[in-house]
This record gives sequence, structure tokens and C-alpha cells, in this order.
Amino acid sequence: MSKKAVAVLISGSGSNLQALIDACGRADFPARIVRVISNKVDAYGLKRAETAGIATQTIQHIDYEGREAFDAALHQAIADSGAEYVCLAGFMRLLTPGFVGQWEGKILNIHPSLLPLFKGTHTHAAALTAGVKIHGCTVHQVIAEMDAGAIILQAAVPVLAGDTEDTLGKRVLAAEHILYPLALQKVIAADTLPGSLFSREKDFLLA
Ligand code: GRF
Repeated sequence: MSKKAVAVLISGSGSNLQALIDACGRADFPARIVRVISNKVDAYGLKRAETAGIATQTIQHIDYEGREAFDAALHQAIADSGAEYVCLAGFMRLLTPGFVGQWEGKILNIHPSLLPLFKGTHTHAAALTAGVKIHGCTVHQVIAEMDAGAIILQAAVPVLAGDTEDTLGKRVLAAEHILYPLALQKVIAADTLPGSLFSREKDFLLA
């Protein structure tokens, strides 16, 4: 099968990147990672990419004057890589409307809550404070507004008695690792298989 080229943007540990690397290693998975870009030199995810033989690049936001200039460099790097899709995987920068517009419908993010609940950071603490009994994660299309954009897939996990931010966070992260490859597969299927169930669902959601 012909695999779609994907760039993954990270800032840290890259465990979601690892889940995507592992999925892309399967012959029947419709994507391959052509470049991993980090805005932090010490992001552990860069090592994961190198181990997997994937090209890496560091573009530090501190080297640019303003968000537009940083995003222009990011856009150029992604375009140069030949990627058709962009996966944000723990990428801790807000993207400008101009950048997001250039990748409309092709840029995904994973967020550790059941959106639209608990946008922003510290989502597990927020869930515990709110007393919800179900928490989870969301893969969504990226738009200029933070943690908004059409929801592609969600996974729910229980909040258990005695949970701490750490125990709950680990349960959600394990779900993220299953969800992100499924969501990427779903978006690619919707784009490439006209008439497929995924495609019709997308039309319906956008109608
Ligand atoms: C994940 O919880 C993700 O949902 C959030 O940042 C975290 C990144 O973890 N956006 P990792 O770098 O993928 O391990």
C-alpha cells in the first residue's frame, strides 16, 4: 500500500510519537513518518526518532523573533520533508492562524481530556477536582483556537477511587497510545477512500 507521509511535532518525552512510530512499522498502516521536529533540543522524543531511523530537526522558538517567524520556519521544514499530514504529539506551542490555515484538515493534535472539558494544561488535576467519574483523551483537528477543532476520536477511562494526578495520567496516556494511530488512520481513510464509512461520517460531521 502507498503510505502517506507524516511529520510529527514534539516538545518532550514523545511516548505518543513512539505509538505512531510503532503503528507506522506495520505493513497495513497507511502512514510513514518522514520527519520528527522538536522545538526543544533535549526532547527525549528526538532519541526515539533517531533509534527508529527517522530524520529529526530541532527548530527552537527562542531563535525566532515572534510566533509568525517561528511558524514560517516550521512550515518550511514540514513542506521540505514532503509530509502531507502533521501530528502534534505533546508539542507545547500555540500555532498561529496563518500556519494552521496552511495545513487545514491535515493537522491533528492529541489532548489528555475528553474535550471540550478541561482545555489547556493540568487536565488530570482538573478532572479530579471536578469529580468526574470518566476522563480520557481526544484527537482533534487543529484550528487557531487552542484545544478546539473537530473531534476525530475519543477514548474514555474510569476515574478510580484513590486516583492521583499521576495514576490517572498514566491510565489516560495508555489510552492515548491506542487512540492516536487509530485517529490518524481514520483521517487518512476519510481523505483517500471516497465512499468509505469514514468518508461519509466526515461529510456528515462537516455538514
Ligand atoms: C500527552 O499527554 C498529550 O496528550 C499532551 O502532552 C502529552 C505528551 O506526552 N498533549 P508524550 O510526549 O507523547 O509522552
